[in-house]
Order: sequence, then structure tokens, then C-alpha cells
Amino acid sequence: MPDVIEKTRLPFAQLECSSEEQLHALFHELSQLAAREAEAPPTPETAEKFRIRWLGRQDSVISRITANWLKPAPPDAKKWVGQQLNRLRPILEDLAAKSKKLAESAALETAAARDTLDLSLPGITRPLGTQHLVRQTYEELYRIFGSIGFSVVEGPEIETAYYNFEALNIPEHHPARDNMDTFYFENLPRSGAQACLLRTHTSPMQARTMQAQQPPVRIVVPGKVYRRDNPDATHSFVFHQLEGLAVDTDITFCDFKGTIEYFAKEFFGPQTRVRLRPSYFPFTEPSAEFDASCHVCGGSGCRTCKQSGWIEMFGAGMVNPAVYGFVNYDAKRYSGFAFGLGVDRLAMLKYGIDDLQQFFRNDVRFLQQFP
Ligand code: DAH
Repeated sequence: MPDVIEKTRLPFAQLECSSEEQLHALFHELSQLAAREAEAPPTPETAEKFRIRWLGRQDSVISRITANWLKPAPPDAKKWVGQQLNRLRPILEDLAAKSKKLAESAALETAAARDTLDLSLPGITRPLGTQHLVRQTYEELYRIFGSIGFSVVEGPEIETAYYNFEALNIPEHHPARDNMDTFYFENLPRSGAQACLLRTHTSPMQARTMQAQQPPVRIVVPGKVYRRDNPDATHSFVFHQLEGLAVDTDITFCDFKGTIEYFAKEFFGPQTRVRLRPSYFPFTEPSAEFDASCHVCGGSGCRTCKQSGWIEMFGAGMVNPAVYGFVNYDAKRYSGFAFGLGVDRLAMLKYGIDDLQQFFRNDVRFLQQFP
């Protein structure tokens, strides 16, 4: 028994197909066979072979059916063959088109996979930097003062003589101006309303802030300050300060000392004690120099504290009522305290660094020790 494909090579008379049903079954078998063949995942070559084998001009299934069955069939059978052929052709065309499309997209995918860049390579990882120790210390200070209600404000590094000195109760020719060897600008006046300079401390933001808002004020002011100092292990012409200011009704010396003590314990550890020594600043009255018990020896005396048990921290005091006059605060109603600490100095003390210049050299061997 020849298979259904072989049958297409036979003339109609030899098919022994005498009814419409038999013809239908034959064509059905052909379309089933084509569908099965088209199921295999095609390549562009197999898809083309399929088309030629079933639909090609010469010696394909369709062309043979036309020549061998349709043409020689007797008139009534011709009608059935014609109908079946017209049904089969679009099925085959559809299968061929699908195969072709599948083959093309598969080929595209293979090409894409082949041409893709392999990004799974390790690549080049550059070592990540870390925050500079001065920055880390600032963050620690913000945390400490932030936890008791201080917010951070910043001011200009190029400051007027008015805010840097006058408004802080340091008039011209006041000796306190000499202590802060100031950088002036060659082309700008050194005194008068126009006078500008590189700020020698962050205290000017006290006046600027109070001028801009009424109490309560609770601020810390970070920033670089400049002085005409020769660089050595404890001096630099640029260094970092954090100014603090709290003004409200009923702020007392006790609040001041409590705040300083809270800071010292947070920064150096809970065992830290503090003491205040009388001092002088034009913008505070009374003024104090504040010491902390040595965090290295705990107060018994060592090299760090020069055997005294105490370490000098920073200047502070109750805001001088004269300062309120410059910012239109009612000195009878308000009181407050202020402090100005050297951030580099605090970091040196805490981390046992003996040379201030390390902060400005950016030697990675130094920086890497504070990840
Ligand atoms: N501004 C002072 C300085 O740079 C530090 C200072 C001392 C600031 C006492 C203050 C203060 O606010 O009350 O030397």
C-alpha cells in the first residue's frame, strides 16, 4: 500500500477513490501529515524545504495533485478534487509561512545570543573612599547636638568685618582683633561697612541668625575658618570649627554647663568629667574655658594631658548682653550661652593624632585608618 505522498504520483484512475468521502479522507491525511512535519522546530533551510516539497511549482504535493488527480478526473470527481485542493492549499501556505517566520525569529535569537557582550566579567572595581575624619567628627557632633534640639546652619566663609567682629562686640582697635591674625582682601577695604575678610571663626553666624529670627534659638554652625598662622603640628591657616548658640527665656548657667557636660560624655565616654575655668571673650560674659577629664588616663595624669589629668576643650560662656543690642533682642527678657569648638582639635584628641597637618595632606595611608 503506497503512502499518501506516493499516492500523489499516481493518476486519478489508480487511486481507487470512488466517493467524495474517500477523497476527503485522503486530503485529510495529507493535511495531517503536513501539520506533523511542520511541528519540528524549523531552520530557514528546513522551512524552505517544506515549502518546496508541498507547494513548489514542480513536483510538489500540490503540483502533482493538480497534474495527476485534478486534470484527468472525470467531471463530477473533478469538482470534489478541486474543492479539496482549494481547502488544502491555504492550510499548507499557512504552515509554510509559520515555519518560515519561526525559523527567522529563531535565527535572530541565535544571532543575538552570539553577538551579546558578556557583561558577567568581573570588571574593574575601584576602591570606595570613606568620609574624611573631620567630616566623620562633624557627623558625630551633629548627632550629639541634634539629639538635644540643636539644628545645623551654615554661613559664608567670606564675611564682613561687621559680623566677624563688630556685631560680636569686638570694635575696631579692640585687642581681640589682633589675636585672630586675619586674612583681608588686597582690593577690599579693611574697615568700615564694606570691609570683608576670611572669617576667623564661625561666631558671626550667631549675629546673623539672631538678626534673622527671634528666640528660641538653638543652632550649631559648622565650617572652615581662616587665620594667618604658620602651619605646624597644632596650627593651620585653615581649620574647622563648630559654633553653638542657645538663646531663650530663662536659660541659665546650669543649662550651659549641663549641655557641655552632655556633649563631653557623649563624645569621650560616660566617665568624662568637665570643669570650667574663667576666661575672656568679648561676646560672652561670663566667659569660660572648658576642660574635660583626660580620656586617655581618666584623670590620673599622662602624656596626653601633660600630667594634669585635664584637657583643654574650647571656649564658651553666657552670651554677652551687649551682643543682643546688635540684633535687637530684648536683653532683659532673653539669655543664652554660646561655645566655639575646634573640630580638628577634638578629632586629634579623640583619635590620638599628634599632627594637625595630617588632616590636610590627604595621605591615603592616614585616611584609611578611619574607614
Ligand atoms: N570664636 C572663638 C574663637 O574662635 C571661640 C568661641 C569662644 C566661640 C567662646 C564662642 C564662645 O561662641 O562663647 O576663638
